[in-house]
Amino acid sequence: MVQRESWATRVGFILAATGSAVGLGNIWRFPFLTADSGGAAFLVAYLVLVVTVGLPLVLAEFVVGRRSQRNVIGAFAELGHANWRLIGAVGATAGFVILSYYSVVGGWVMQYVLGSLTGAYTGNPATYFDTVSVGANAVLFDALFMAFVAAIVALGVRSGLERAATVMVPSVVVLLVVLAAYGATLPGASEGYAFYLSPDPATLLSDAFGLLPDAAGQAFFTLSLGMGVMVTYASYLGDDRSLVADSLIILVVDTFIALLAGLAIFPFLFAEGVDPGTGGPGTVFVALGTAFTALPAGRLVGTVFYLALFLAALTSAFSILEVIVAYVTETFDIDRRPATLAVAVVTFFVGIPTALDLSVLTVYDILANQVLLITGGLLLALFIGWVYTDGALAELTTGSAIDDRLGTAWIWLLRLPIVAVLAYVLFNGVGVLAEAVAGLL
Ligand code: PFF
Repeated sequence: MVQRESWATRVGFILAATGSAVGLGNIWRFPFLTADSGGAAFLVAYLVLVVTVGLPLVLAEFVVGRRSQRNVIGAFAELGHANWRLIGAVGATAGFVILSYYSVVGGWVMQYVLGSLTGAYTGNPATYFDTVSVGANAVLFDALFMAFVAAIVALGVRSGLERAATVMVPSVVVLLVVLAAYGATLPGASEGYAFYLSPDPATLLSDAFGLLPDAAGQAFFTLSLGMGVMVTYASYLGDDRSLVADSLIILVVDTFIALLAGLAIFPFLFAEGVDPGTGGPGTVFVALGTAFTALPAGRLVGTVFYLALFLAALTSAFSILEVIVAYVTETFDIDRRPATLAVAVVTFFVGIPTALDLSVLTVYDILANQVLLITGGLLLALFIGWVYTDGALAELTTGSAIDDRLGTAWIWLLRLPIVAVLAYVLFNGVGVLAEAVAGLL
């Protein structure tokens, strides 16, 4: 039997889980999604969903992981409900799909770090994006990014994940604070903030259902929910920690970084009169490339920005790989190193089509975020809400004294409102996926 590790310290666990949560989703996806989807109205919908749907599900994943001390698929059998392994299987599949294209985008980021240092995109940000994002370069840097991720996971929970997160997560915060402070001094700052945060309650009221799928998808993605990262990370946790306190910290830091990223990015764009554009995986890179070309000390600012993005992406990517590696090592009794190598190589091959065609990347993204993650979350809400209620409540209160009413509220949130919201989001997501696939054919 492969020996299970545990986190060395509570802070190490919190940083690793926060590192998983904080990633491309916060710095790359969130600010633009907010700007595209109605500014502050979207922000409000997102914040409400993070607290009412995200937090209860983080707790649900923590409970399953810590109680079972197993990987995301083995956990359910360990808890005496082997049939619900389906949750883990959906989650691990989502992880596979996400990691396969997340590392492609990670590869773009690496090329942008280099491009900022050398000035390669100066003057031609759009052409640079095209050479970076699709084709041989994209595949090569995808492999390189995956190699970094695998190297960390191969080192294990304490020496790999915990140590890397302890250095990288605080670095991301510091770099973003520096960038936001610099952004605040630029002439475009107030216009940028207004674009990002302009309150429009009318949109919120008139378009609540339109905002819901995107806001819920983002809440899921940013908290690394629905695919067992939080199950796996909590499975390396002892009984003496308060799951509620830890999840609150993770949630607050994750949200803070998403907001901070927007506060850094929009002043850059508005200072240079760059149109933030709408949607599409390349917009951020092209728009920011244009801004960094023109800003004072733009190459340095660009390097710092893409370095922060790289570190954030890395701590998220290795959390996904860990989910699958934990499953493989524990199920097939294979050592961590060969298991990591095998999973990384297979995932890399699965991701190659996304490095050759951006519309394939978009389909992977929709499949994972709007369908698989949501399915995983929905099934987990049903499991904890209706099937494993007593065990879940007992685990929730282990390590901390929690008012009974809070536990009851948690269960009832999972039972009805969360199931209803996720069912709606899933229904919508299947439609979006069908459309995207049809577009490919
Ligand atoms: N939370 C990460 C981000 O916001 O970029 C992405 C992510 C990591 C999603 C891990 C899902 C996951 F399991």
